[in-house]
Amino acid sequence: MELNKIYNEDCLETLNRMKDESIDCVITDPPYSGLTSKSKNGRFSNNCHIEMDDMSERAFLLFMKPIFREMYRVLKMGSHLYCFTDWKQLRNMADCIELAGFKIVNIVCWNKGHFGTGAGYRSQSEYFLVFSKGLANTFNLRNVGNVITVKRAKDSIHPHQKPTELLKILIENSTNENEVVYDAFAGSGSTLISAKALKRNFVGSELSADYCDKINKIINEPSLFTQE
Ligand SMILES: C[S@@+](CC[C@H](N)C(=O)[O-])C[C@H]1O[C@@H](n2cnc3c(N)ncnc32)[C@H](O)[C@@H]1O
Repeated sequence: MELNKIYNEDCLETLNRMKDESIDCVITDPPYSGLTSKSKNGRFSNNCHIEMDDMSERAFLLFMKPIFREMYRVLKMGSHLYCFTDWKQLRNMADCIELAGFKIVNIVCWNKGHFGTGAGYRSQSEYFLVFSKGLANTFNLRNVGNVITVKRAKDSIHPHQKPTELLKILIENSTNENEVVYDAFAGSGSTLISAKALKRNFVGSELSADYCDKINKIINEPSLFTQE
């Protein structure tokens, strides 16, 4: 497996080629919220097909089960797996990861600092689940709570883009320089760009050729990335 590369393919194909216990940390963000059919101020409504983004809960579980099993195989013992989710998929996602053999370590709330449109309890947060393979290695940072406030990226290139400021906290907390971070659903490449900036190695998979092209341009010229 070549390091510091984005693979334009189904993540299961990438995972199947990886050696056992060859990855130091997985940070990933599976398709879950059906944005494909939604418009976001018209910004992402045209030509905005996100692969596998509109699955039923059952289909989602069937889709993710073999992926989490493979992630378990390729991660080193004690390493951490992070998985982003919204509140609707949180229970499903946690069950699915536990069934693959991981131990739950924490559920962290990403507070975006402002809420969206609508009524009732307007959405201001997303979550990421923290798991480990076996007994968790010690985290590096001592000053991080389980609610993290970071603003959304302003001029994002992907509708589900996570801010590099947030991803860098996860990477610093769970890896050291030269270790390998894997993102199975790379999207804009935000995890890979954050890993590179922190002198970690990275591997990414992304089904969309269009996003892979964008990542390949940005990874060699991070100033093109709107958040850098
Ligand atoms: C929620 S988005 C990830 C966004 C990313 N975290 C970011 O910050 O930009 C999920 C991505 O997974 C990709 N995808 C869907 N199914 C896939 C699969 N089987 N293998 C690899 N990528 C896939 C989609 O094209 C989409 O870009």
